[in-house]
Formats: sequence, structure tokens, C-alpha cells
Amino acid sequence: MTACRNVAFLGLGVMGYPMAGHLARAGHKVTVYNRTGAKAESFAKEFSALAATTPRVAAQGADVVCACVGNDDDLRAVTLGEAGAFSGMKPGAIFVDHTTASAEVARELFALAQESRLGFIDAPVSGGQAGAEKGALTVMCGGLSDDFARAEPVIAAYARACRLMGPSGAGQLTKMVNQIAIAGLIQSLSEALHFAVEAGLDAQAVIDLLKNGAAQSWQMENRTATMLAGRFDHGFAVEWMRKDLAICLDEARRNGAQLPVAALVDQFYAEVEKIGGRRWDTSSLIALLKR
Ligand SMILES: NC(=O)c1ccc[n+]([C@@H]2O[C@H](COP(=O)([O-])OP(=O)(O)OC[C@H]3O[C@@H](n4cnc5c(N)ncnc54)[C@H](OP(=O)(O)O)[C@@H]3O)[C@@H](O)[C@H]2O)c1
Repeated sequence: MTACRNVAFLGLGVMGYPMAGHLARAGHKVTVYNRTGAKAESFAKEFSALAATTPRVAAQGADVVCACVGNDDDLRAVTLGEAGAFSGMKPGAIFVDHTTASAEVARELFALAQESRLGFIDAPVSGGQAGAEKGALTVMCGGLSDDFARAEPVIAAYARACRLMGPSGAGQLTKMVNQIAIAGLIQSLSEALHFAVEAGLDAQAVIDLLKNGAAQSWQMENRTATMLAGRFDHGFAVEWMRKDLAICLDEARRNGAQLPVAALVDQFYAEVEKIGGRRWDTSSLIALLKR
């Protein structure tokens, strides 16, 4: 049985709202902050939690402060400055960041946290909205092992797998590996489905057979039907994937890795945005074929 802790959660979006809900259900004493206050109020009502008006107020008295906001700038906005969480946290408390952000901002905030005797774990997630709702996320962590050991029992409320991958930034780097692997895969699956249709095959029947073999993937299992139907109003948005690929390509410029396919797929996603797909699921790459 996990000990009940004082936990703050900043950012009640598609991911954050259900994640914070799992913390409350696990018995933690939860205080939430959301930029748009109405969401924090409705969370507080639904889960008998507290709603705070700034990240600083939410963080006061918390053992662990979790966040899941959009990007590097949003993360800086909720951590730093007078109303930021760092200014409210007590010494020894740990900040756990679930935003998909750069490894650079993770290291920057880790160093600032150290100066204030706070812990900082970068902990991006994989598993999407469904994973957050089911409490079955994969959480990739970077930071100090002592901080991880204290944060992990809290993260467990919404994780199926959670692992410390190395020093600060290693969680974000691991998430980049995930996004690089997915980008090429979705393009390949799109081309495969497109080919099956052009070849006059029953594409769904083809996939129902092939998913038992070496071409199997999460995307194949979970996205084939909607890709064939041309439905993309769900899932992980193209604009988020482009943010993530930009982070990957930026990091690759620094570490010298070659990412020719990721760079190309990013351009394809730019095309998807041009045809109105900024908020479409990432499986919408297929919409570019045979237009
Ligand atoms: N959605 C997915 O399937 C998925 C999967 C894995 C990882 N992720 C990553 O998880 C993160 C969150 O994704 P999401 O889908 O939950 O996004 P979302 O629904 O757009 O929620 C973003 C949250 O961040 C808050 N926020 C944004 N900018 C802020 C700022 N400057 N100051 C304070 N709060 C701010 C928003 O507040 P408001 O309510 O006021 O707008 C909202 O609560 C992203 O980094 C994303 O890449 C998402």
C-alpha cells in the first residue's frame, strides 16, 4: 500500500486531468492548478481536491509537484518566477515534469532546483489519452536515483511502467527515441495500406492477417481501421508531433545523430497541417497519399 502524500498537479489538459484523477483515487491529498481556472474548479469538485490559483500556491506544502503542460516555455512559466512552483516548494520536495519537452530545459530546471534544495525529475510519458485514462502510462525518467525513489510510488498511480533512464534529461532523450521510432513507422504503415488498396486487396483483411506477424505494431493494431476510413478526429495531434520532432531534430544537431526519415516525416506533417490537419491524429499521414 502506497503512503498517502501531499501532491500538487499543474496542468489539467487531456493528459493531466486523468493523471491527477488517479492520484486522488490512490488516496493522495491532491491540490491542482490550471491556467484556465474553471478546469481546476471542476476537478476539485469531482475529486474532493483543492484548487489553487497559482502554481506557487498549489506547490506549498506538497511532497511531490507534478506537471503536464505543453512545451518548454509553458514549463518555465509554471516553475519559475514569483508565482512559479519552485518559489512555493519546501526544501526536499520533488518536481516531476511529465511534459514532453527538451532535454536542455530539463537540465536547466534540474540545476535551478538543486540550488533551492529541490529535486527535479524529467518524466515524459507515452500511452496517449487512453493510457492516461486507464492509468497505464509508460514513464521515462531522468534525474537522481534518490529523488526517483521518492517520486516513483506517486507516479505509480498512473503508470504501467516507470524507469529511471539516467541523469537529468535522460527521460526526455528516451521520449525522443520513442517519437523517432513512431514517425517512420506511421509513414510506412500509411504506404502499406495505400498499396493494399491500390492493389485491389481487402486492406482490413490484409492487416488482420499481418498483425500476427513481423509487421505488427501498436499503430497497426489501433489505427488501421480509422486510417482506412479517413477518420482522424482523435488521438495525438499533428501539431504536438511536430513540436516533438522539432525537439528531436534539434537534439540530433547537437549529438550528431542522423535522422533523415524523421526530418522527412516532419515535412509530411507540415503538408498535413496545410490541408487542415493541425489537430488530426498522427495517423493522418495517409491522407497525403493519392490526393
Ligand atoms: N495528448 C497525448 O496523447 C499526449 C501523449 C503523450 C505526451 N503528451 C504530452 O503531454 C503534454 C500535455 O499534452 P496534453 O495533450 O495534455 O495537452 P493539452 O490538453 O493542450 O493541455 C495542456 C495543459 O497545459 C496548460 N498550459 C499550457 N500552457 C501553459 C502555460 N503557459 N502556463 C500554464 N499552463 C499552461 C493548459 O492550460 P489551459 O487549460 O489553460 O489551456 C493545459 O492544462 C504535452 O507536452 C504533450 O506533448 C501528450
